[in-house]
Amino acid sequence: MHILVTGGAGFIGSNLVDALLARGDTVRVLDDLSTGHAENLPAGTDLVVGSVADPDAVSAAMAGVEAVFHEGARGSVARSVADPLTTDTMNTHGTLTVLHCAQRAGVRRVIYASSSSVYGGATAPPTPETAPLVPRSPYAVSKLAGEVYCRVFAELHGLETVSLRYFNVFGPRQRPDSQYAAVIPLFIDALRAGRAVEVHGDGLQSRDFTYVSDVVAGNLAALAAPAEAVSGKVFNLAPGTTQSLLGLLGHLETIIGVTAERNHVDPRAGDVRLSQADNRLMAEAMGFHCEVPFEEGLRRTVEWFAAR
Ligand SMILES: NC(=O)c1ccc[n+]([C@@H]2O[C@H](COP(=O)([O-])OP(=O)(O)OC[C@H]3O[C@@H](n4cnc5c(N)ncnc54)[C@H](O)[C@@H]3O)[C@@H](O)[C@H]2O)c1
Repeated sequence: MHILVTGGAGFIGSNLVDALLARGDTVRVLDDLSTGHAENLPAGTDLVVGSVADPDAVSAAMAGVEAVFHEGARGSVARSVADPLTTDTMNTHGTLTVLHCAQRAGVRRVIYASSSSVYGGATAPPTPETAPLVPRSPYAVSKLAGEVYCRVFAELHGLETVSLRYFNVFGPRQRPDSQYAAVIPLFIDALRAGRAVEVHGDGLQSRDFTYVSDVVAGNLAALAAPAEAVSGKVFNLAPGTTQSLLGLLGHLETIIGVTAERNHVDPRAGDVRLSQADNRLMAEAMGFHCEVPFEEGLRRTVEWFAAR
């Protein structure tokens, strides 16, 4: 199949590209390389450098494509608090641009990377897709807007769309070297360097951490599922388990074999307290379950850091 992966040079996108190439798909990547890296892609990958918010670049990248995995976005709650306008352009306008160009190009299906941040934190976890949506950051608003556009394009134009709400994804190629880096690469980097780890708040906030190969497998399941079961719909994609930040740190200390000093700093604006998916809808619609146990995923991630 001819497939376009937006954001394919990033952490999740490049893991998805590897899986698609291994299946024998023909893959094109559209990425502005703002946080992604061309070296995440195998040599010879069809990489178009451009923005998902640029209709000309997106139209050109859609030529001959049957399905789109739309991963390209400006991540990070904190970055969106600091710079909401760019988050909105890249994410809200970018997703609308991808859908508009996909529909005009005759693409069959678009699978959209949404986020658990749309819930704004659970009141009674685990959280089903029907829970109230209370986005608490410009990032979360932009991800929710993208979901709504996906449903509207399915209804108005018959473009098949599937929105997958990722929870906290981790694994190889997630980088620690940005002020907006995610917690697992930051903790691994600090532990390996013998530095104190920075813990926002009391460290008892919890997340439904999802290993990246499960997110890739969930995307492939969303591509394969019959349209009547999935199109225009939204699904949580996560193992449905929960780990506190301090619990995560304990696991990493055991795996790496060190103990770190904890440096507690202020909670971050826009961060949620509890996050845990009710994942039954995706299991029912697509027969999909996450498979990689949390500690196994952490072990593989630590190994990737060691081999870098
Ligand atoms: N990592 C997570 O825990 C998580 C959780 C929920 C949702 N998501 C979503 O998953 C997707 C992938 O995230 P990731 O963690 O791999 O982040 P990432 O930053 O590694 O990947 C994003 C990719 O998109 C590219 N990009 C950014 N803006 C772009 C633009 N305007 N045009 C073209 N390309 C652009 C970046 O260069 C990068 O390669 C994003 O849509 C993100 O919102 C991620």
